[in-house]
Amino acid sequence: MKRFLSGITPSGDGSLHIGNYLGAVRQFIELAKSNETFLMVADLHGLTTIQDKKQLQNNIEILILNELALLRGFLSKDEFEKIVFFRQSDVPMHTECQSILNNVTPLGLLKRAHAYKDKLAGNAMEEDINVGLFSYPMLMAADILLYQADLVPVGKDQKQHIEITRDIAERFNKIFKKQVFTLPEPYIPEEVAVVLGTDGKRKMSKTLGNVIAMFDSEEAIKKQVMGTYTDPTRKHATDPGHIEGNMVFTYLDFFGPTSPRLRGASELSALKERYKAGKIADVEVKEYLFQTLMNYFAPARKAYEELKANPNVVTDILKKGQERALIVAGQTMKEVREAIGLVTKYSFQR
Ligand code: ADP
Ligand code: TRP
Repeated sequence: MKRFLSGITPSGDGSLHIGNYLGAVRQFIELAKSNETFLMVADLHGLTTIQDKKQLQNNIEILILNELALLRGFLSKDEFEKIVFFRQSDVPMHTECQSILNNVTPLGLLKRAHAYKDKLAGNAMEEDINVGLFSYPMLMAADILLYQADLVPVGKDQKQHIEITRDIAERFNKIFKKQVFTLPEPYIPEEVAVVLGTDGKRKMSKTLGNVIAMFDSEEAIKKQVMGTYTDPTRKHATDPGHIEGNMVFTYLDFFGPTSPRLRGASELSALKERYKAGKIADVEVKEYLFQTLMNYFAPARKAYEELKANPNVVTDILKKGQERALIVAGQTMKEVREAIGLVTKYSFQR
């Protein structure tokens, strides 16, 4: 049994979309069935962009409900209860560890990090970039290394952060001549590495507004689906349609084969043939997609309503998660302190 850890930042409005699900949460669910699981709400990371108390609290709350609903909806009760689900800021060792790792990290390594480089490549001046964003990969390294995680399931955009984490862990172990930290591996299934948004052009992202958000109201989801990019060369329902680059079929490829409505992959290929032959309208395939998504996410949407109606259940999960996380993180910090020489043991003591 391996140990895996991952986290999600409460960015945007805190809600998750099908890109987050396919790129991250679905892997959490699969891995949680047979591995030791640590899942974290990276609320301290949220501070790099959100500096408004009300918004931060609101986003954290929404993210917690969204993520727990997916986990609860798609896992058995037993599997769900084994997960250590916690808030990063509930475990003070994250910032302590980050502070120590700062000292074994070369400046150049952080300067090469995408988040910082992209900001600079945009219009931001160095003066306007906060150190929190610059040292974002350090906090993430601390998040991962504290739990001695073997695997870190994330989207492709996070791969570099895992490489930085490995680099830092290796340096630490070498400098202090002790294998304190496990070197983590990224876990990124190729086919879902980057899910494009409903515009068919850019990565699906909360900040770009090109998302399908599975916990929105039915009407909102319908609107998102109806606005999805299909085949711009097709003017009439009787025109032959293209499947490639058509986001409705891209999403159906992900969700269709497992949907009871489409009764598996053969139904989906029949639908594609009809589309290619100009025998079905865009609005009809979009309706299929909408129904498929509602079907697919029904257990999670039910879990969402249940969790929302029972806040005590949520606070208990977080409290239990915090307790279990503190034990593991505390043990690692004990080893870190010993390795670097921050121990309460004086030579004049007998
Ligand atoms: P967003 O870009 O919407 O703000 P986050 O950066 O909060 O999303 O991402 C949370 C997790 O979901 C990360 O592991 C990230 O790699 C993954 N993820 C986000 N968007 C996508 C996408 N479009 N395709 C695949 N994975 C994604
Ligand atoms: N940086 C990740 C993201 O934006 C979130 C995150 C924070 C994370 N700490 C982590 C992911 C530790 C994996 C492991 O999506």
